[in-house]
Amino acid sequence: MNDFIYHIPTKVYFGRDHLQHLGAELKQFGPRVLMTYGGGSIKRVGLYDRVVQAVREAGLELYELPGIEPNPRIGSVREGARLCKEHHIDVLLAVGGGSTIDATKFIAAGACVDHDPWDFLDLAKRAPIERALPIVDILTLSATGSEMDTGGVISNPETHDKIGRLAPQLLPRVSFLDPTNTFTVSRFQTACGAADMLSHIIEVYFTTQHDLFMLDCFMEGLMKTIIRFAPVAMAEPENYEARANLMWTSSWAINGFVNGGKTKAWSCHPMEHELSAYYDITHGLGLAILTPRWMEYCLDDERLPRYVQYGVNVFGIDASLPPIEIARKAIAATAHFLYDTLGLQRTLPEVGIDDTHFATMARKAVGGDALPGFKPLRQADVEAIYRMCMA
Ligand code: NZQ
Ligand code: ZN
Repeated sequence: MNDFIYHIPTKVYFGRDHLQHLGAELKQFGPRVLMTYGGGSIKRVGLYDRVVQAVREAGLELYELPGIEPNPRIGSVREGARLCKEHHIDVLLAVGGGSTIDATKFIAAGACVDHDPWDFLDLAKRAPIERALPIVDILTLSATGSEMDTGGVISNPETHDKIGRLAPQLLPRVSFLDPTNTFTVSRFQTACGAADMLSHIIEVYFTTQHDLFMLDCFMEGLMKTIIRFAPVAMAEPENYEARANLMWTSSWAINGFVNGGKTKAWSCHPMEHELSAYYDITHGLGLAILTPRWMEYCLDDERLPRYVQYGVNVFGIDASLPPIEIARKAIAATAHFLYDTLGLQRTLPEVGIDDTHFATMARKAVGGDALPGFKPLRQADVEAIYRMCMA
């Protein structure tokens, strides 16, 4: 097990009825608040009114940046950073899903520099992130874990880039996680969120390092939680237990805890970000299409034990079967969960993607020589995985 440092100082208010603390939490950072949100779901469900009231009652000055897109774009980040500078904003309040929180992270960093915020993401520049305004968030969709991690992913439609970046300065200071705020999430977005969090765990769990029993058990528990509660939340959107289990799982899937002691290298996410970059599809949907094919592509003798452990411990496949049979059943069970239980599309053509950009997307996903994940993947490997998703 490698050495590691674990430090996640986000303060979490979990559950109903915590909004009365919002004013005081914001106030500790200063009086001027920029509230960021997406395309209007928070207004439709009444959350906007409650948040505005809480901020006003605390005597704070409120500014707003609405309209942050799913797969948030650099244009929104630029506008947010401009508003922060113009109004001398002290603290950012992100109300929404991962897209709103991600954009807010780069607004927070962009507010502290004179250069274009895209320079933080541009692979040729990678401007340092040394400071960021404090971020408070109210999460409305369980998926990305942005509420409790240091990362964010921003799209640049002009260059067909979708690029992520991690920096401790981007970690939200306070996150309000109220499962009732996710009651209105659609069946489709609930399914995509489940696929995303499942992928966050699979990216870490599928490894050739076998010295991590405690973390394996923890990750298997998280995966079983998603498999158990995502269908419940889809069938009964206001089932508090289901929404609460999914919400806390989304944070713990990616807040750094499960990485402890592991050599971290993700595979499906870089491949998916290219799909979103070129076709603006929902992140979790792209992951759902890729993941079973990636599992199939990587299966070999060296990696077989991990599939067996996954199949037996997560899906309850009979441990007495031959290992290769368990592995195949585990892949089939994953596909069944994603496509039959969650009802997500299973091929790229079904979501309007053909092979036009496969070579470019594969080259960009790999970045250099190879993606150093569970099984190192070169450009030709990634192209082959994209092709497996055609039918
Ligand atoms: O924009 P509004 O009107 O709010 O509607 C949103 C949006 O259309 C809607 N929604 C959110 N909460 C709702 C709701 N609708 C009804 N009721 C609610 N309570 O859902 C749609 C999708 O929202 P979005 O924020 O885009 O979804 P998600 O949370 O899945 O975020 C996806 C983005 O996060 C990135 C993805 O790549 C993608 O850009 N990721 C961020 C990560 C991170 N920060 O660590 C890691 C992930 O792997 C991922 O890459
Ligand atoms: Zn993800």
